Amino acid sequence: MSFRARHLLGIEHLAPDEITTLLDLSEQYVDLNRGDQKHDTALAGLTQINMFFEASTRTQASFELAGKRLGADVMNMHMAASSLKKGETLIDTALTLNAMHPDLLVMRHPQSGSVSLLAEKVNCAVLNAGDGRHEHPTQALLDALTIRRSMGRLHRLTVAICGDIAHSRVARSNIHLLGKMENRVRLVGPPTLMPTGAADWGVEVFHDMAEGLKDADVVMMLRLQKERMDGAFIPSEREYFHRFGLDAGKLAHAKDSAIVMHPGPMNRGVEIDGTIADDINRSVIQEQVEMGVAVRMAAMNLLARNLRAARSNADAGVMV
Ligand code: NCD
Repeated sequence: MSFRARHLLGIEHLAPDEITTLLDLSEQYVDLNRGDQKHDTALAGLTQINMFFEASTRTQASFELAGKRLGADVMNMHMAASSLKKGETLIDTALTLNAMHPDLLVMRHPQSGSVSLLAEKVNCAVLNAGDGRHEHPTQALLDALTIRRSMGRLHRLTVAICGDIAHSRVARSNIHLLGKMENRVRLVGPPTLMPTGAADWGVEVFHDMAEGLKDADVVMMLRLQKERMDGAFIPSEREYFHRFGLDAGKLAHAKDSAIVMHPGPMNRGVEIDGTIADDINRSVIQEQVEMGVAVRMAAMNLLARNLRAARSNADAGVMV
């Protein structure tokens, strides 16, 4: 087993063999989750705290289910009702929680870098469930598992990531992961939604869907993230759909075998046509959700192993 990370803060600092280890373990959990007996004991005795400072359906539910299936005590903090509303800083909240001896802290926060800051202040494993527009590592890992299972491999594929790249942590984590696994990544979207400097990330940039999707193996659509926009980035949703929304005509430029992905939540009729999203021959959007539980089980299992090893080394050190 090679997985050395102490925290899962992003894909940027993971090595390819760590990614493969995590995906291989996830496969076992896909099988477990499909059976009647969904319990394992990998996290038995451990405490997992979920802190979501931003709305979440899939990510929070799957982290909760993943922890419960592995036998952890799982607590969901209701951040809207927490002391942060009373003016307590994130760090004070973290130190308060740390005093309760959690083993795994899962956090989603609107500010980029906030999850790394938390990891410096606590002595448990920290998992990034999305920080601002920075990273969303478990999303990229579940996307990778979905691609590997659908395409039979996770290398030498042409992956077109389309839409609102500028505001997307999903895009950033996927660019890191797909690049590390030696795939060809294309970013497709209007110039207003393309981050400055994107051309230096080892990707190809397109502003036209027909060109960007040409012969692609994977078409990954992103949501227009209006909550992170502080102005008008598109002329209108109708115009956006016309130029960048995925419909049958644009998808025809990709390979016949191409799969369609979306991290959810979807804006049907804005970035994706509902009939494409629901087409079971092309869309793997429901598989992505299924893989999300397995990948989060694997990530927490591997981090818990490293945490236990670090703690027993520290104990041995004390006794010497
Ligand atoms: C993504 C997120 O929160 O970054 N969603 C998710 O985790 N499933 C993408 C999005 O919100 O558009």
